[in-house]
Amino acid sequence: MAKTGKARAHTNIALIKYWGKADETLIIPMNNSISLTLDKFYTETRVTFDPTFEEDTFFLNGEKANEKETQKISAYLDIVRKQAGTHTKASIDSTNFVPTAAGLASSASAFAALAAACNEALEMRLSDKDLSRLARRGSGSACRSIFGGFAEWEKGHDDASSYSHPIDAEHWEDELSMIFVVINNKSKKVKSRAGMSLTRNTSRFYQYWLDRVEADIEEAKAAIKDKDFKRLGEVFEANGLRMHATNLGAEPPFTYLVSDSYEAMSLVHDCREAGIPAYFTMDAGPNVKVLVQKKDQQAVIDKLTSYFDPEQIIASNIGTGVEILNEEDAL
Ligand code: DP6
Repeated sequence: MAKTGKARAHTNIALIKYWGKADETLIIPMNNSISLTLDKFYTETRVTFDPTFEEDTFFLNGEKANEKETQKISAYLDIVRKQAGTHTKASIDSTNFVPTAAGLASSASAFAALAAACNEALEMRLSDKDLSRLARRGSGSACRSIFGGFAEWEKGHDDASSYSHPIDAEHWEDELSMIFVVINNKSKKVKSRAGMSLTRNTSRFYQYWLDRVEADIEEAKAAIKDKDFKRLGEVFEANGLRMHATNLGAEPPFTYLVSDSYEAMSLVHDCREAGIPAYFTMDAGPNVKVLVQKKDQQAVIDKLTSYFDPEQIIASNIGTGVEILNEEDAL
């Protein structure tokens, strides 16, 4: 008998980054990380396990995925099948909800939604912690998208001990927002997986990253506990820049940033000089994300649109954790 599950998961942006793996197969990170889940960008996935299927099939945004993408998903399904004790093949239908086609689709929302849909379809009844562990096997950052608001990924030391949990901020996150500056990537793309591996294995600056990141985690957690926006923003921005600095020490060196990334950073500095607290970060691409308090959101958008096209600016509120969808919910 065919078994179906459907789920929605939102993407998350790391405030303190995950950069480098201790175990590339199990996806155990070198350091803890902290993220905010956002409501604007998400993935909805339906999975059907059917004994009559001869192979896995994968549809992304309504189109049949190519062999390479299907193989990647199939390898992930093998991990799920092993855990659930089944050999049944599946069909996956996944849609990314992103406002533009500007490289904002994330593996975090994709694997969090897929893990949750499989958990539902195969009646695995995983706890949130175990669902986070299962999502992690697809993509590290996905283990944080199981939860809404702030989440911390405990690096752990093996499959059982590496998972995320929510950080209770007493709804302070409702006062925050993240503004995306979408920047065209004309440079050669280095995927986060390849970039972090090269950096961890070759960068002279990587040890400095490790030396500082635990203190950054503690600082961020203290700032969240005290609801101290300036303190959180300062460690968030410094940590992101430090991550990007490690890439410059890799062999060969590389960077995800382009001139417009620096332009956005400079505009954020201008905001602060004008007395508006706003802080930036970048991930494995040139887009800049600006953390602001909602009360300052419009002022920061106005500043950014003094240089960028309004279509390049997308503001997002803080999002919820993974949700199971009913069969009737449109995909
Ligand atoms: C820069 O989670 O995409 O966004 O585990 O190899 O799939 P894999 O990597 P991924 O890396 C995310 C890196 C980052 C920082 C972060 O989200 O913490």
